[in-house]
Amino acid sequence: MSVKDVHQVTKQAWKDEVFPEWGTWLNEEIDTTNVPSGKVALWWLCNMGVWIKSDQQTSVVVDFWCGSGKNTHYKPEMDPRHQWARLTGGRNIQPNLRTQPMVIDPFEVRKLDAFLVTHFHSDHQDLHVTGAILQNVREKIPFIGPKAVVEKWLSWGVPRERCKVVQPGDVVQIKDVEIIVTDSFDRTALISDSVGLDTPDDRTVPEMDERAVNYVIKTNGGTVYHGADSHYSTYFAKHGKDFDIDIALLAFAENPVGIQDKMTSVDILRAAESLDTKVVIPLHWDIWSNMLGDPREILYLWRQRRERFDYLFYPFLWQPGGKFLFPDDCKKLEYFHRRGFEDRYSYPVNLPYRAFL
Ligand SMILES: [Fe+2]
Ligand SMILES: [Fe+2]
Repeated sequence: MSVKDVHQVTKQAWKDEVFPEWGTWLNEEIDTTNVPSGKVALWWLCNMGVWIKSDQQTSVVVDFWCGSGKNTHYKPEMDPRHQWARLTGGRNIQPNLRTQPMVIDPFEVRKLDAFLVTHFHSDHQDLHVTGAILQNVREKIPFIGPKAVVEKWLSWGVPRERCKVVQPGDVVQIKDVEIIVTDSFDRTALISDSVGLDTPDDRTVPEMDERAVNYVIKTNGGTVYHGADSHYSTYFAKHGKDFDIDIALLAFAENPVGIQDKMTSVDILRAAESLDTKVVIPLHWDIWSNMLGDPREILYLWRQRRERFDYLFYPFLWQPGGKFLFPDDCKKLEYFHRRGFEDRYSYPVNLPYRAFL
């Protein structure tokens, strides 16, 4: 209920009316979309979060996250165990402010068939989203992730019987959707401490497969490769041989000096070429103020290089909250939200003179 009197205004009333900024707009769009036969629909939930809906109307989400970054200057320094403290030898907290609105309301999700998480970083595995799914999704859907993700869920109180530990090579069938678990190349996950796993000696390389995975999600309408926070790897070319990938979702952003974490524009093109995908969609660039990427770089470089290297794939520059329909949008290049006013001149106009402007 909206407040009409300034004296009734409270901080909570403001949060209730304004937050999440998109309300249930996207929830409704996803719920009411009937994916046509032979197609697959994707929606970007910000960062690496993606909703995938098959032509049998099966829905799986990957890295569904609705959190925030820094929200005060008054925080203690980074813990010396923090991945950026280990990598840079610095202690100042990074100024990673969230730059996008909340495009979906996790508490209004009712129909979902599987909840997948790639790794345990806090911008991929979300306590509130996990609670909302556990409480409100009608069916007892599986919570799927590598060991470190499941350990974190268990520490949050998720019942063990709802969790499924996966590792590269595993195949999980969710109705008509086949999920193949494969290798992650997220070196940052190797220097991040996780809940419930033994922390090896700092000179020892931990087991990647327990910490992070990538997913190949096969639907009747196309195969999606979710690259999570993988860095560039020559092994993308192996995945390109192993899987027939239509859409590759890859982490792109600007790395501050001293940081190696996200792929750069040319890395995205090299990864797309290696994966032999039809479409590459850069994600993750949107969310952090100190790592904002400009995906236009990818488009410029793609145009410059495509003839020389016989690129067969297309990049797609998306917007958070936007929809991508495969194969219809496979050469679309750039997304724009619906512009509206489709019903113009359905009724007589009402202007003081006809040629108003
Ligand atoms: Fe990460
Ligand atoms: Fe991330």
